[in-house]
Amino acid sequence: MSIGIILGSGLGQIAELVETDRIIEYSEIDGGLRSTVEGHKGRIICGNYMGKSVAVMQGRIHYYEGYNTKQVVKPIEYMKEELGIDKLIITNASGGINESFTPGNLMLINDHITSFVPSPLIGVDLTEKTGARFHDMTYVYDREYINLAHSIANELGIDLKDGVYLQTTGPQYETPAEIKMFRTLGADAVGMSTAVEALYAHAIGLRVCGISCITNMAAGITSSKLSHEEVQMTADKAGLDFRQLIESIISRM
Ligand code: HPA
Repeated sequence: MSIGIILGSGLGQIAELVETDRIIEYSEIDGGLRSTVEGHKGRIICGNYMGKSVAVMQGRIHYYEGYNTKQVVKPIEYMKEELGIDKLIITNASGGINESFTPGNLMLINDHITSFVPSPLIGVDLTEKTGARFHDMTYVYDREYINLAHSIANELGIDLKDGVYLQTTGPQYETPAEIKMFRTLGADAVGMSTAVEALYAHAIGLRVCGISCITNMAAGITSSKLSHEEVQMTADKAGLDFRQLIESIISRM
């Protein structure tokens, strides 16, 4: 069985390190799929990495690109059904809501809020595939992987944070008032992806590990405005920690 990996904004370099056997463009999975965001390619790289068989999504499909959330999760369904993955590492760039965070920190996702984005399971009955019509979401993020990631971070001397990720539709960044609301709701970080992917992956039986790179403080926490350039620059700078962490997680999964 192999490991699926979704690479977020500015984190795509890992894909270059895979000993590649095969590349699958998203358009081959579904004619309507294509990633339209700078910094995001739209393909799955299959091969070997850290001695493991991996399928790496270089770039993801976003809801804000105009796709519905069922399309957003198509590559995950494909990786499970056609490529045989049984685990999924999901990464992203996010805005820090928790004021103890600093841009450049990595945050292990221990839960999420997906209530602001339509469920990818609407109109999809997974009963035949999974045995359930209503899926439990108590432990979307695998507890063993959370423990594993923390012990690896300790060994590597990486200050790995922990928290709840909230997904918005995007593509606009949030207002300061929205960030206050999200903090009240219990969110530590905010972004435009991941939660629907994780919920779908969990529903179809994949073990999920989620890691977020806090690329900026969320709107209104400092006086600066937000930009995609800042997001990419900080993600690039955090790249080394991120790569070390993810490589050790992959090799010990
Ligand atoms: N908000 C939403 N998405 C993001 C942010 C943010 O502040 N930073 C990176 N992705």
